[in-house]
Amino acid sequence: MVTSPQTTPTARTAQSDWWRQAVVYQIYPRSFADANGDGVGDLPGIISRVPYLVALGIDAVWLSPFYPSALADGGYDVDDYRNVDPRLGTLDDFDQLIEALHAEGIKLIVDIVPNHTSDRHEWFLEALEAAKGEPARERYIFRDGPDGSDQPPSDWESVFGGSAWAKTDDGQWYLHMFAAEQPDLNWQHPEVRADFLETLKFWSDRGVDGFRVDVAHALVKDLSEPFPSKATLPRQSESNGKHPLWDQDGVHEIYRDWRNLLNTYDPPKSAVAEAFVPAARRARYASADGLGQAFNFDLLQADFEYEKFRKVIEENLALAEENGSSSTWVFSNHDVVRHATRYGLPKNPKGGWQDGKDWLLSNGTEPTVDVALGLRRARAATLLMLALPGSAYLYQGEELGLQEVGELPAANLQDPAYFRSKGAEKGRDGCRVPIPWTVDGLSFGFGPGGSHLLQPKWFGAYSVQAQEGDPDSTLSLYRKALAVRRGLRTGNSLTWVDGTDWVLHFTRDGGWQSITNFGAAPVELPDAAVVLSSGPLEGDKLPSDTTAWLI
Ligand code: GLC
Repeated sequence: MVTSPQTTPTARTAQSDWWRQAVVYQIYPRSFADANGDGVGDLPGIISRVPYLVALGIDAVWLSPFYPSALADGGYDVDDYRNVDPRLGTLDDFDQLIEALHAEGIKLIVDIVPNHTSDRHEWFLEALEAAKGEPARERYIFRDGPDGSDQPPSDWESVFGGSAWAKTDDGQWYLHMFAAEQPDLNWQHPEVRADFLETLKFWSDRGVDGFRVDVAHALVKDLSEPFPSKATLPRQSESNGKHPLWDQDGVHEIYRDWRNLLNTYDPPKSAVAEAFVPAARRARYASADGLGQAFNFDLLQADFEYEKFRKVIEENLALAEENGSSSTWVFSNHDVVRHATRYGLPKNPKGGWQDGKDWLLSNGTEPTVDVALGLRRARAATLLMLALPGSAYLYQGEELGLQEVGELPAANLQDPAYFRSKGAEKGRDGCRVPIPWTVDGLSFGFGPGGSHLLQPKWFGAYSVQAQEGDPDSTLSLYRKALAVRRGLRTGNSLTWVDGTDWVLHFTRDGGWQSITNFGAAPVELPDAAVVLSSGPLEGDKLPSDTTAWLI
């Protein structure tokens, strides 16, 4: 897709493949803006902030789950897929939100959670009421434990820690790859398949433009018995289709059906898979007869180093070209420590920042964070990302350079990862604290009440109000970068300009250049006009941990 500087926002996103080069802003609705003052963000709150989204210059919003939920996992435990949590609003509010966004040419993508329901979903309640062996249990994965023992059917662990099996009152066990309140569905059951198509249709008919598919690689499982022990299972991220629980080839049949449905709309609805699979296996999720796009978490997991960034970018651009999709880039979301903090943490001696974990973090801000370094690198990384071909996914608050909140008191934590790991994992609440809109005031302008996760005192300095008038603020950087990106040709090509192995330099269509200095000393800038830089330049030199765009 090629855009010209004259393109209006509405025209810009009108094309059917708008998602290929889109800047998508993730809203975690319970922590964005709270209109009714109950301490939990809501849909009217988001509607009231549409002007902010317009000024930021995004193309689409991805809305994390807003469905009725007991919040055992931040809304990823869904009670009813075709409704709105009454604490967040009504279906009518939802319609108003779409209308308000569409009026500004902003698309709306909603999160769909097909691997598991909540334990309050009517199907699960029915399953628990049914006797062992009755059809109502077949929509989930119920099994007996080994004969005569009180042990679960296997030693598999849930992603959040502890056994992946929970026992029911009549002694049977059900599988839950996440929290016990999130029973896994049996996707071999025709009713499960049919019902999700209904849900996709429900939201598509209401006007949503696309879907983000939660743990898209988990739906189909090989449950042949005897169940293999966890010690013999391959690592999820390296399993290449050989893991019984993740990334089974059969899952693509489901997405073919989804794609057929999504293509009946004009323009077709987009979909992006959250599939934690090796890069080469991502292509099938992102194929044109599948979901169309898949998240690439490779940059998010890379250290801030030239070689790692270059390798990830090359590999993913090649993959996108091969399968006709477009790359996705992301540094922060609701599951990971914010990148402004990550880049300020001491380097992990084991390599990468994840301490060998597949995807789930973290221990917040321990050990000590170098806040200034983290922010400088985060700004440089973001500017680099926004220069890449493909779509960029931003997470609410990163445009403020917001740091992870590491100091949440234990009594305030909500993440099941914290509870199930018995405190070994601090969990993901630190990136989910309601964002600050004003310098002071109750809940820093989040709403007229309090805030369900406690905001620290230092939040005010990161607020929208504090940054709006400051041309050097992170908010101003994001706004300028998105405005410039929109006016530039954003096709799929990128040409490397080779020089040193610490300066990442490439040109895009029309001669637009991006250059990032990962080295320790300032480097000479090319002879071209600097349009934007992530930090101050030193004369005609680019300081370390800084990105500049030139024309
Ligand atoms: C996804 C979500 C995460 C959630 C998990 C289970 O990875 O991003 O927040 O906990 O799925 O639904």
